This record gives sequence, structure tokens and C-alpha cells, in this order.
Amino acid sequence: MRILFLGGSPAPISKSSVLLNYVYQWLTQEGIEAITVRVSDFDADALINANFHHPDIKHFITQLESVDGVVVAAPVYKASYPGGLKALFDLLPERALENKVVLPLMTAGSNSHLLALDYSLKPVLGVLKAEEIISGVYACDSQIEYGNKAGDKTTEPTISAEIRSRLDQNIRAFFRAVQRRPLQIKPLQTRSSEIKSSPLLSAVGEIK
Ligand SMILES: Cc1cc2nc3c(=O)[nH]c(=O)nc-3n(C[C@H](O)[C@H](O)[C@H](O)COP(=O)(O)O)c2cc1C
Repeated sequence: MRILFLGGSPAPISKSSVLLNYVYQWLTQEGIEAITVRVSDFDADALINANFHHPDIKHFITQLESVDGVVVAAPVYKASYPGGLKALFDLLPERALENKVVLPLMTAGSNSHLLALDYSLKPVLGVLKAEEIISGVYACDSQIEYGNKAGDKTTEPTISAEIRSRLDQNIRAFFRAVQRRPLQIKPLQTRSSEIKSSPLLSAVGEIK
């Protein structure tokens, strides 16, 4: 079982990536193969100018074709998800998520834009023909703390018990859904070089 983890925040140290890393740790302990990608890894010019032929984009499409499921994490930006992530989605083929299970995660400054998950992120996953979209998790910044509340981002993050519980439920649902689906993925040719050990959160380490 191979899963692609897509970080949608442009921030190098990111709360949505804390959630993504929690899911990554959970699923890799179950023995899945992981591919990790961040929107900030892509050539910005290719994204802004919608360069469908850029090697980064072609490579990403090949990676997507090879996975059973996708976990995508994004912050809320202006009641939606960041434009960089939209620019990437815009460059994907119409059926890029066909036959795949998708787990969406969002973080935000407050609960005011709770519906961004259902009315902003999920519709685009649907347009890309995701086979099944798990309900997903929306967390506020206050529910993800770094060790020092004064803002020291170098210490390990702590996710509130409520969010961890919702994450666990969603991960189980995601895992079950991926296990249910028939094996349809294509082999990934450059497989070993794509798998990174703990790439999502190099700056903040493991979750307490
Ligand atoms: C440009 C920008 C726009 C934002 N817009 C919203 C918003 O509309 N609603 C909200 O609740 N939080 C908003 N936030 C706060 C972020 O969603 C929140 O801090 C999020 O956890 C950041 O995730 P990240 O650290 O993964 O980038 C915004 C932050 C930025 C930088």
C-alpha cells in the first residue's frame, strides 16, 4: 500500500504539517510506503504560469498514479486553501485522483472557516474524481501547541487530545478504505529514491 502525503502550506514550519506528520507516523508504523511532497518543493514559476509540461508536474502526476491514497494537509487562507495548492491542482489531469482514497486535513486561526474543508478543499478533490473522501479533520492553531507557548517553534509540537482523537478516527477510516479498494496502482519506477524517512517535519520532530 502506497500513500502520498501532500503538504499544502508554503510555511517552512507549519501547523497543518504537524497534522500531516501525525498521520504519516501512524500509517508508516502500519507498514505503508510513503511518498512525501510539499507544494513549496515545486518550481514556483511552473505553478504560477500553469506550465503543464514542467518536469516537476509530470513527475508528480507519475507519483500520484502510483499511489492508493492521498493525505493532503493545508492551512485555511482567506476562507479557502492556499493559492499555491490550487495552482498545483489546476495542473493535474481531470481524473488524477480516480481510484484513490483521500484524507483532507486543515488548520486555521479560528473556527470561523470550518466550512472551508467541506466547501473549498473537498469539492476540488471531487472534481479530480477521488473515489472516496474521508470526512477529514479541521484544527485551530490553539489545538496545536509548540513546547513554548511564547512561540518557540523549535520544540516538539503537541496536538490536543480532541484533535488526536479525531485524527485517529479519520486515519482508521482512511486505512480501512484503502485496504478495501482493489489493487490498481501502477508500479513506481524510481520508487526507492522517492521514499524519505521523516521528511514532513524536519524542523519540529515527532509528536509528543
Ligand atoms: C495569508 C493567510 C491567510 C489566512 N487566512 C485565514 C482565514 O481566512 N481564516 C482562518 O481561520 N485563519 C486564517 N489564517 C491562519 C492560518 O490558517 C493558520 O495559522 C494555519 O494553521 C496556518 O497553517 P500552516 O502553519 O500550516 O501554514 C491565515 C493565515 C495566513 C498566513
